[in-house]
Amino acid sequence: MTDLDGRVALLTGASGGIGRALGRRLIAAGVRTAFAYGSRARQADELVAESRAAGVDAAAFPGDLADPQVPMALLGATAEALGPVDLLIANAGHAVQLDYTDVDAATWERTMAVNLRAPFLLAQRALPGMVERGFGRVLFMSSVAGFTGGIVGPHYAASKAGLHGLVHYLAARVARRGVTVNALAPALIEDTGMLPATASPDNLPVGRYGRPEEVADLAMAVLGNGFVTSQVMGVDGGAHPR
Ligand SMILES: NC(=O)c1ccc[n+]([C@@H]2O[C@H](COP(=O)([O-])OP(=O)(O)OC[C@H]3O[C@@H](n4cnc5c(N)ncnc54)[C@H](OP(=O)(O)O)[C@@H]3O)[C@@H](O)[C@H]2O)c1
Repeated sequence: MTDLDGRVALLTGASGGIGRALGRRLIAAGVRTAFAYGSRARQADELVAESRAAGVDAAAFPGDLADPQVPMALLGATAEALGPVDLLIANAGHAVQLDYTDVDAATWERTMAVNLRAPFLLAQRALPGMVERGFGRVLFMSSVAGFTGGIVGPHYAASKAGLHGLVHYLAARVARRGVTVNALAPALIEDTGMLPATASPDNLPVGRYGRPEEVADLAMAVLGNGFVTSQVMGVDGGAHPR
């Protein structure tokens, strides 16, 4: 495992269920993290307080990732507060559950902007510095929906499947420079804003929901491993493949 102590991370969606669990793992590993959030400042500020209490510098930044200026602004604010980003974790996600007949253009565009364009813009701007410094980790938060279609809707499934193409394209271009690019694809993680009320653990072979900490543990393993790249890994209780 690569020691991540003292590295700088930008974690989007830090105010959400998976983001908070991963934020706590990053703090425990001594990673100086910028906790980015959309609207819930309290959750991100709590992580900053926990981090500082543990003697690890941290910051929290708001921003609507549907705005194409925000990725660059977040990277700039992080660099100013903590230093250039070594670990980019594009975890924020937008999910409005709709059948394919009901998805309008605005919903399609916002979903693509938050779930696919923002992770691309973040990676596009963060990767050159990682390549120059000879170390970097990019981790996207996909979904089992990127493989199976899932239950949220076609807009969401397409946005997450798009991340898989990004992983493979980008990973190949930076692999020789100490930089890895991967994605996790969770399913039905409880204690999050995403878990649809209609879902049931019966849908999953393991017969229970996943925990945010289980996603966070795999994320830390991937961030600490320099030989794993161009992978999209399920954290899905056996949902895919069946
Ligand atoms: N939970 C699951 O079962 C599951 C399954 C598959 C994939 N995922 C993926 O896991 C990731 C984390 O989701 P979660 O489960 O932790 O859900 P969550 O608790 O709802 O968290 C979502 C996070 O994304 C942020 N966000 C949403 N829209 C944003 C925007 N326009 N600009 C900036 N930030 C925005 C939210 O910020 P604010 O709340 O501060 O606005 C929040 O921090 C997402 O990418 C999701 O698609 C989750």
